[in-house]
Amino acid sequence: MSSTLRIGVLASGGGTNLQSIIDGCQSGQISAKIVTVLSNNPDAGALQRACNAGIDHQCINHRDFASRDDFDSAVVTALLEANVDLVVLAGFMRIIGPRFLEAFPGRIMNIHPALLPAFPGLHVQQKALDYGARFSGCTVHFVDGGVDTGPIIIQAVVPILDGDDEGSLSARILEQEHKIYPQAIQWFAEGAIRIEGRRVIIERAAPTTTALIHPPLTEPS
Ligand code: GRF
Repeated sequence: MSSTLRIGVLASGGGTNLQSIIDGCQSGQISAKIVTVLSNNPDAGALQRACNAGIDHQCINHRDFASRDDFDSAVVTALLEANVDLVVLAGFMRIIGPRFLEAFPGRIMNIHPALLPAFPGLHVQQKALDYGARFSGCTVHFVDGGVDTGPIIIQAVVPILDGDDEGSLSARILEQEHKIYPQAIQWFAEGAIRIEGRRVIIERAAPTTTALIHPPLTEPS
């Protein structure tokens, strides 16, 4: 690996997570460089954010390819050409195929807006609300061959409140996403992360010792 970690970010949407990573790299919170931003969506706000930050960016539209394998090959080629050490999926709405995984073993991260393994897949904020869960949150994990199944690096928990709808819950979760993704990337950049089977070991990370209860226990009167 080169001395400064070289990151490639893949994003399909507005790119607020990308922005938190750009900001983290600029402030020195993340000791890494975003060398390329790729999107499958020509209208992705993420491409505009990369442009504003002066970062190389490119649309590789999946609709221009006959198969997922061909699309994956084009994305992998672009990432290899940019000499990327770590691939960061930030709201990337395409499934990563075997060719992609083989090119970057243990070097692809994703963020998911739920507390995995609960609610993998899409529209998960609404699913957590519909289920009546008391907590949801977000998860940064390594990517494996399944959908949102890879080893978990860090999670943040948020309460689900009585008046919540999909928008308010998504916003509460997103605020935490912008904190935990830069942290996970920084641990990786420091070489502090080790994967042991399903478990991710993070050197020097302090343990969390408090339990969360929601609604809180009633104090005896
Ligand atoms: C985030 O909620 C992320 O967890 C999910 O897609 C959303 C992307 O948001 N995978 P943004 O494009 O980073 O604003």
